[in-house]
Formats: sequence, structure tokens, C-alpha cells
Amino acid sequence: MIELSEQQKKAVAEAQVTFKNLKDNAKKLNQEQMNLLFGEARSMNGWQDKDVSDEMVKSIYELTKMGPTSTNCCPARFKFIKSEKHKQLLKDALLPNNVDKVMSAPVIAVIGYDLDFSDHMGKLFPHMDVAPMYKGNQEFNYSAAFRNSSLQGAYFMMVCRGLGLDCGPMSGFSNELVDKTFFENTNIKSNFLCCIGYGDSAKIFQRLPRLDFDEACEII
Ligand SMILES: Cc1cc2nc3c(=O)[nH]c(=O)nc-3n(C[C@H](O)[C@H](O)[C@H](O)COP(=O)(O)O)c2cc1C
Repeated sequence: MIELSEQQKKAVAEAQVTFKNLKDNAKKLNQEQMNLLFGEARSMNGWQDKDVSDEMVKSIYELTKMGPTSTNCCPARFKFIKSEKHKQLLKDALLPNNVDKVMSAPVIAVIGYDLDFSDHMGKLFPHMDVAPMYKGNQEFNYSAAFRNSSLQGAYFMMVCRGLGLDCGPMSGFSNELVDKTFFENTNIKSNFLCCIGYGDSAKIFQRLPRLDFDEACEII
């Protein structure tokens, strides 16, 4: 059992009050809100000519960062491409059928994972020294970085949708080229790209089927 300091005990009590207030006052999203996040939301293939402000990008991150990760390791790193110069640099790495979709987006998030994420564990998980667990095991370190950055990428998309934006996630690009262009001399690797902005509904394809409950799930 870890002995908490007075300051930590106060922080725990505050967190419990905040959470209880939330659950007492806001119980769940309504159907329309769920549709905006999941039920009727779509992946985008084209974009309206409408800017996404830097303030909006920052507020997306402020919510995204709150999503859960194992040992609170937060390995995702985001590079938000807005400038024409950086879009052109990204262009060479894209599969041909993704070029127009990406180049017309107001913002393209390069979602990466930092293999040195454990350097921040002192801040992120201060009550236990978990950094050696990651540093000492390359395979475990990689799987934690990839798994949790993928989750953070998903949180990112749901935050965007919740704020009224649309997303166009993409893995059809050269990770090697993107890493060289955007993450050189770091231990950050690209996971996937996600265009964000206000989608062009005229460019949406038919909805593809999903697996039924019995095909994908089992209650045991
Ligand atoms: C990680 C990831 C990678 C994807 N890569 C591409 C891609 O390279 N090109 C593309 O056109 N769509 C890509 N997509 C979009 C998917 O095809 C799309 O999300 C899926 O068909 C569901 O479409 P819907 O959300 O409109 O129902 C990707 C989606 C995800 C989540």
C-alpha cells in the first residue's frame, strides 16, 4: 500500500468530488450527440474551404490528452500541418489516391508515438518508478507506445467530432518518409495521419457494413 502525502490526499479528495459532480449532473449523451460521435459520423474524403483555428487545434489537444493510457504514459505526439510548405513535404509520402483528400484538408494531424515516452513518467506517474519497466524491455516499450498512441488517436477523432469537426484518418502513406521528414533526430515514429476540418458531404461514399454483434462479440 502506497502512503499518500497530505497534498496527495487532498488531490484525491478533490478528484472524487469533481467526478461525483459530473456523474450527478451529466449522466449520458443523447442520441443525436451519440450519432455525431459514432452512429452517423463518417470518414471524410473532401473538405469545405473553411479554416480550423490554432485555438481550436489547442482545445482539441486539451481534451484528447485526458483520454486514458496505461500507466498514464501518454506516448502520442501530434504534429499539426497547416502550412502549404509542410503539406507539400507530406505530399511525397502519400499513396496516390490519398493525395487530393489530404492536400485539400485545412489541417492534417500526424499522430506519432514517442519511443522515449517513459522519460516523462516522473511527471505522468510520479507515485511509482515505472520508467525502468519500459526502458528495460524494447518489445514491451514498443507495444505500449503503439497501443496507447493508437488509442489517443481514436480519442483525438472523437474529440474532433464532438466539437463539430470531421475526420479523415489515413494509413496509406510511407511511414518511413514521414518519419524522416517530420520526426528526424527523434525517437518519434508516425502511427497514422488524420485530416481534420469541415467535411464536404458531397464526397462521402456509401456506408460500408460492420460486423454484427454475433460475428464480433461473445458474452461469456
Ligand atoms: C487507421 C485508419 C487508416 C485509414 N486509411 C485510409 C487511407 O489510407 N485512405 C482512405 O481513403 N481512407 C482511409 N481510412 C478510412 C477508412 O476506410 C474508413 O474509416 C472506413 O471505411 C469507415 O468509413 P466510415 O467512417 O465513413 O463509415 C482509414 C481509416 C483508419 C481508421
